[in-house]
Amino acid sequence: MILTVTPNPCVDKTVYVDTLRLGTFIRSPKYTCIPGGKGTNVSRAVKQLGGETAAFVVVGGHTGRHVVEMIENQDGVECIPAWVRDATRTITTVLETSNHRQTALFEPGPRLTPEEVRRILNQFEQVLPRATLVTFNGTVSDPIAKHLYQEMIALAKAQGILTLLDSHGEEMALGIEAVPHMVKPNIAELEELWGEPLPSIKEIGKAAEALHQKGIELVVVSRGKEPLLISSITGERLIAYPPEIKEVNPVGSGDALVAAFAMGLAEGKTLEHMAKLGCAAGAANAMSWDIGHFSSEEINRLLPLVRVEHLKSD
Ligand SMILES: Nc1ncnc2c1ncn2[C@@H]1O[C@H](COP(=O)(O)OP(=O)(O)OP(=O)(O)O)[C@@H](O)[C@H]1O
Ligand SMILES: [Mg+2]
Repeated sequence: MILTVTPNPCVDKTVYVDTLRLGTFIRSPKYTCIPGGKGTNVSRAVKQLGGETAAFVVVGGHTGRHVVEMIENQDGVECIPAWVRDATRTITTVLETSNHRQTALFEPGPRLTPEEVRRILNQFEQVLPRATLVTFNGTVSDPIAKHLYQEMIALAKAQGILTLLDSHGEEMALGIEAVPHMVKPNIAELEELWGEPLPSIKEIGKAAEALHQKGIELVVVSRGKEPLLISSITGERLIAYPPEIKEVNPVGSGDALVAAFAMGLAEGKTLEHMAKLGCAAGAANAMSWDIGHFSSEEINRLLPLVRVEHLKSD
């Protein structure tokens, strides 16, 4: 089972309007509400790809109960809530159908106490034996919990469970110190970590090599519709070329890519298999407004359009 961890989920509302005019009252003809958060996106994508998954989420208050209910009833994914006192945030996105522009309002996430962080870690440790692989997704809601991934990765590794980190900022940097099996930064996140621009695959390869030096076995660097680098500590390196599609909403494409790699690693598939499935899933996700929703027909149509090139080691 793929266990996903979302320390800062949200009630993710999207209000559709023709055009957003600031300072006016606008009635919307359409509204959607999903459980938001990077790990919940990964769980949704794993489910769409036919895998088994559960979502570990840190939640609080009425909005937290709403998130749990949506994960279970809307997504049909098993939810493992870790309850905290402060309420889960709501993110409201206004989507302008006339120009595809999105404006999002982020409420602050819950503050956490040291005792709550301890309880989250205890609960996580108890769930671990059910997982084959754990993905850590997004950021934490309170700087007090910035070591959360670092500690969780250590707990998972102590039980021999594979770990996959997809975050940014301090959580990512600290999580890397615990040496997860795989990391999946997008290019902006890798540049933030590296501290300077990485304009070419060669430069990206150097940053990946530095992560391998720390012991991280697999580094996958995504760049939207641009080719992505898959680099293994064994020296195997692949470039995958995403299929050409009409992009509607790429938010969550990275999470779909993570879902494909998580499943592939858990099932012992080849890097080429994971790269192809990941690119197909990422592209399928980007073709619609919905996050982590795609059909197996779409995946099967896109799979042969993904080209993978094996790089020669120098
Ligand atoms: N416009 C696109 N056309 C084809 N494939 C795409 C497109 N956008 C994304 N993808 C696929 O999805 C993968 C992940 O996308 P991206 O690099 O945008 O991830 P991300 O920034 O982590 O996204 P998020 O965090 O919102 O999930 C890409 O490597 C690519 O395979
Ligand atoms: Mg991402």
